[in-house]
Amino acid sequence: MINYSLKPIQNIVYNGKIISSFITGKEQNIDQATVDAFGEEWTKFASFSNSEIQAAGDEYFDIVPPQIFDKERTIALDLGCGTGRWAKYLASKVKFVEAIDPSKAVFSAVDFTTDVQNIRISQASVESIPFPDESFDFVMSLGVLHHVPDTQEALNKLVKKLKIGGYCLIYLYYALDNRPFYYKGLFYISNFFRWWISRLPNSLKKMCCDIIAILGYMPFVVLARFVKKLFPTQKYYEKVPLFYYINKSFHIIRNDALDRFGTPLEQRFTKQEVIKMMENAGLADIVVSPHMPCWHAIGKRKK
Ligand SMILES: C[S@@+](CC[C@H](N)C(=O)[O-])C[C@H]1O[C@@H](n2cnc3c(N)ncnc32)[C@H](O)[C@@H]1O
Repeated sequence: MINYSLKPIQNIVYNGKIISSFITGKEQNIDQATVDAFGEEWTKFASFSNSEIQAAGDEYFDIVPPQIFDKERTIALDLGCGTGRWAKYLASKVKFVEAIDPSKAVFSAVDFTTDVQNIRISQASVESIPFPDESFDFVMSLGVLHHVPDTQEALNKLVKKLKIGGYCLIYLYYALDNRPFYYKGLFYISNFFRWWISRLPNSLKKMCCDIIAILGYMPFVVLARFVKKLFPTQKYYEKVPLFYYINKSFHIIRNDALDRFGTPLEQRFTKQEVIKMMENAGLADIVVSPHMPCWHAIGKRKK
């Protein structure tokens, strides 16, 4: 646990725990409609099985050298923790995880991580990370920074919290720069739907996203599974859009459909743009995973 460097605006008592909130309501570099949408999303999808977390966590951590973690010493920060699923994944490898999120997802996160002693959940945004600079050995922000208005600025703020020589793992939506043209066509169509679905009232939005999960995602997933069965030794199934979900549960697919279509602000970046932003933020030795989810990348804070 790290001492806060800011004074909490309020301490919320929830299920016998205290959640310190640093939300002033005057945050910059935040899209409040998007944060509110996530608050709703993580109330609906508040729980994941250990095997779901392990399998998906291993995909993000494929480029993280295991030797950088020390169970006795490593202090980590999870920015935009949502339900705290990756904080939970990380907790067994490190001494302590500070996990922050500006939305009401913090309540789901407290519930979901209640059996893990070395995680603390706080309510804060990237603008007001309530810890001193250079206090973490490892920081991560998975699927978050493309939902803030100024991604570079947010990444700069996150990296400042890293000790020199510490590691930063991020995942940003890719610009489909490594995919054939028909992926981009599907993306433009889906973006059109996202524009209006994300502005619907909550219950209608959730219903639309469930329909999209069934009628939009599942046909591709079933096709990818079929192609894989037909050609088990080839990777032809990777030509099918949404093949990423080939081994994912329907729970994850529904959650991701809501994540994708329910949020007003999302940005997308090419691999080169991700590398450039990480360099600009002061990271070196950058490794971008060639595997899904794209692009997830790790860098080390320069001296
Ligand atoms: C797609 S969710 C990812 C949650 C979690 N990292 C995961 O993968 O399960 C994005 C999260 O970013 C948070 N977020 C949005 N804007 C933010 C900001 N300005 N500062 C910090 N977190 C933010 C949202 O509240 C939301 O929980």
